[in-house]
Amino acid sequence: MNNHCFGCDFGSYHLKIYHKDADSYLMQHNMVAVQDKKTMLAYGDEAYAMFEKAPANIQVSSPMSYGNLASISYMQAFLKSLLEKNTKGQLRGAEFFVALPTDMQERSFTMLIQDSNMKPKAVYLVDKPVAAGLGLDINVKEAQGVMVIDIGAETTEISVLSLGGTVISRLIQTGGRSIDDAIQAAIRKEYNFYIGNKTAENIKKELAYAVEPEEGSMQICGRNMVIGLPQMLEITTEFVYESIKEQLNVIMDAVKSILERTPPELGVDIIRNGIYLTGGSARIRKLDQLIQERSGIRVTVDNEPELSVARGLARVINDKEFRSLAFVTKEQKYE
Ligand SMILES: Nc1ncnc2c1ncn2[C@@H]1O[C@H](COP(=O)(O)OP(=O)(O)OP(=O)(O)O)[C@@H](O)[C@H]1O
Ligand SMILES: [Mg+2]
Repeated sequence: MNNHCFGCDFGSYHLKIYHKDADSYLMQHNMVAVQDKKTMLAYGDEAYAMFEKAPANIQVSSPMSYGNLASISYMQAFLKSLLEKNTKGQLRGAEFFVALPTDMQERSFTMLIQDSNMKPKAVYLVDKPVAAGLGLDINVKEAQGVMVIDIGAETTEISVLSLGGTVISRLIQTGGRSIDDAIQAAIRKEYNFYIGNKTAENIKKELAYAVEPEEGSMQICGRNMVIGLPQMLEITTEFVYESIKEQLNVIMDAVKSILERTPPELGVDIIRNGIYLTGGSARIRKLDQLIQERSGIRVTVDNEPELSVARGLARVINDKEFRSLAFVTKEQKYE
């Protein structure tokens, strides 16, 4: 037995783990490479390196889909291998604190770990928006309305928190990946030019602005669909800005609808405290400015936005004041 304790944020793009004993964070691409539908060849960043490059008998995919578990067995195998590697193999009897996304089943996120052959001592859940709020250094237990927007890869979770709970929360299936897809589709339509997902993501990271793009461009590599050969093409910030507008509008409409449904007293708090923006896609340039302009509310962006949920789980694990924010499903009973 041991007293390992982990905080887990199962993102659809990154798996993030807080490891209490080492007081450190692990972040890896949440991907597995599976050969002939049975043997796990690689996981994490190593599997991501194979993405879009593997032969037909090797499938590279994420065990998570739009915030939910797509493959429990692969998620379990990846988690176990990663943790064993980082804890010298002593996993039995560990405690887990798992971030539960809005609208997802408590039971499946508990059983993911409880039913695995890691033989844990206990599995606790923490609402993901609450963990994100804690990770942003907000005291979520106060009677103060706070809005947190977490824009990840496949989901955007917009939540109003108060008194340690979510008053309103909505998860939509729009995020970094749909922005990548929009860039890919626009390039195909405008230039008859095919690019892969990784190239689309790189273009976003290099050139995406949510408002008033600064001048800039990059050379990309893809396939000219008219002549069928690989070629280079120049893409500008202005082109990317026009391609991603619609996806950003989807996110802004969801933010607006949550603000409209927020009880007035909490709305006043949000105006006073501002909106907090997190998740990897919070790195899109001037996204805070877009939200601020459309909502009229000041926006604060996390410095390390991929890790805010895991940092919040670390606070639940380490700070007695926040332990009460963790809960268990009805079926589980721990001492
Ligand atoms: N510099 C950047 N500019 C724009 N987007 C970025 C940047 N860096 C990372 N991203 C995007 O952030 C996303 C990953 O963020 P994050 O790790 O928060 O997602 P996740 O938690 O795995 O997903 P989800 O919460 O939706 O399940 C990816 O879509 C990635 O392309
Ligand atoms: Mg996430």
